[in-house]
Amino acid sequence: MKSAQINEYGGSEVIKINQSTSEPTVSPGKVLVSIKVSGVNPVDWKIREGVFQQMIQLQFPSTLGIDFSGVIKQVGEGVSHSDFKQGDEVYGQAGVVNGGSGAFAEMALADGESIAYKPKKLSHPESAALPTVGVSALWALVDDIGLSKGQKILIHGGAGGIGSIAIQLAKNLGAYVATTISTNDKQFVQELGADIVIDYKTQTFEDLLHDYDAVFDTVGGETYRRSFKVVKKGGIIFSMLEQPNSELMNQYGAKAIFRSMYANRERLTKLAQWVDENNIRINIEKKFSLDEAGDALDYQKDVHPRGKVVITV
Ligand SMILES: NC(=O)c1ccc[n+]([C@@H]2O[C@H](COP(=O)([O-])OP(=O)(O)OC[C@H]3O[C@@H](n4cnc5c(N)ncnc54)[C@H](OP(=O)(O)O)[C@@H]3O)[C@@H](O)[C@H]2O)c1
Repeated sequence: MKSAQINEYGGSEVIKINQSTSEPTVSPGKVLVSIKVSGVNPVDWKIREGVFQQMIQLQFPSTLGIDFSGVIKQVGEGVSHSDFKQGDEVYGQAGVVNGGSGAFAEMALADGESIAYKPKKLSHPESAALPTVGVSALWALVDDIGLSKGQKILIHGGAGGIGSIAIQLAKNLGAYVATTISTNDKQFVQELGADIVIDYKTQTFEDLLHDYDAVFDTVGGETYRRSFKVVKKGGIIFSMLEQPNSELMNQYGAKAIFRSMYANRERLTKLAQWVDENNIRINIEKKFSLDEAGDALDYQKDVHPRGKVVITV
């Protein structure tokens, strides 16, 4: 079978399309999936470049890719609490970092705990685009921030993968939503429901917004640090990138949270249900083939899609 693999860390030149990868054999607790579409996330190019090599030891050759949507080919023994069977349409994570064999491939092993039935109203490309960004938005806004009706939230990077889902979720929860984007994405985030749109290249968000209940930061760096000026005392700053800065927390009386996100069956099931019930929009800006996996990662890294890019397998 075909897969996109690396034998060393580096730029897109290290990705090799291996036409004769051995098909993974199903083992206890795992599910073998025929991949229809793989979703692309910033973490994929970061893994390729070795950003996490201190924490995650890859064994080369290593198949890239985490998010997917596909069809079950075989269920291993001991997959708990499930009636998964051959032919079921599922979505989730099959990354090497999630106990899988890598989603940028025609077939992949996924941990039985890292998949769920795919959203009924979404296509395979839309479902493949969802696991990482959808679980992240749901976990942060609902479980950690506890966002509720009438509260005010600033979402940084509203046109990105996580931001575009987070805007829709925050509006669904009845919150008032400000978001930062670059000029060309204004109409896109307004269509998703944003109430205030701030162009981060020409405007200074902390001069415009005050006494917010929460900030959801998908950008990090200076954007994270400046965000403390926006929240009220006791407000929450949830960052996808930055560890809590205790000096700023004390100075502004705010709570800061960082979390490493991963999908499990419960969160994926909740996500699928929410997406189906609320006609959530998944914007796929561009589709690549598996042979173009390197281009797909470069596009994610350098162009920043409006919404998502996927790899059609
Ligand atoms: N903690 C975790 O477990 C976890 C899980 C998933 C993702 N992440 C991280 O979270 C980050 C976001 O992920 P994603 O999938 O949403 O990425 P993405 O699709 O690339 O979205 C990021 C968005 O931020 C925008 N942006 C860049 N600079 C900005 C600034 N200064 N102010 C406002 N917006 C800005 C980009 O748009 P333009 O540049 O086009 O303006 C882009 O739309 C990534 O770094 C990812 O690695 C962490």
